[in-house]
Amino acid sequence: MLINDIIKYETDLKMLMGKKGIEIVAAKIDVNEVIADLNKAYADEWCAHYQYWLAAHWVSGLNADPVSSRLTTQSADELMHAQRFANRIIELGGEPEMDFASLPKVGGCGYKAPPKEPGNLKQLIQDVIDAERCAIGYYNKMTEKYRDKDYVTHELFKTVLLDEVSDEDEWEDLLAQQPN
Ligand SMILES: [Fe+2]
Ligand SMILES: [Fe+2]
Repeated sequence: MLINDIIKYETDLKMLMGKKGIEIVAAKIDVNEVIADLNKAYADEWCAHYQYWLAAHWVSGLNADPVSSRLTTQSADELMHAQRFANRIIELGGEPEMDFASLPKVGGCGYKAPPKEPGNLKQLIQDVIDAERCAIGYYNKMTEKYRDKDYVTHELFKTVLLDEVSDEDEWEDLLAQQPN
């Protein structure tokens, strides 16, 4: 086989696999509905990523260091979640939200700017907990919705849900550690 034939064969195979994957989903649910559900999560992950990343740099004061370092780590985790949702959207033949300014509207949890006072750690942590809880509610609903409809999307929502549950736990602990 010539190299071009091999490349063509692999490309055809990939396209076939993509088509079969989409076909399986389409037999049970409108693929556009799945893409819209995934885009909502994709947008929320970007909003959380930006909210945490900015807060990590903005926060200051005596007890700010551990909070800032958690925010940095978790903002990277949220970006990784966004990447996973984008991959699934593309696999299904869809487009991740292309208009950056639309992200807070496409998402279901919104975006909360850090408190004006950089030392207001309690408010900042509470805003993170609210974002995590909103994501947990949505991913839980989606894990349930896709249980028998689309196994791949179901697994994706379930995996990310587990991460958000552990995030919420960590932030509740950090909130409890803040002095009155
Ligand atoms: Fe996330
Ligand atoms: Fe999270």
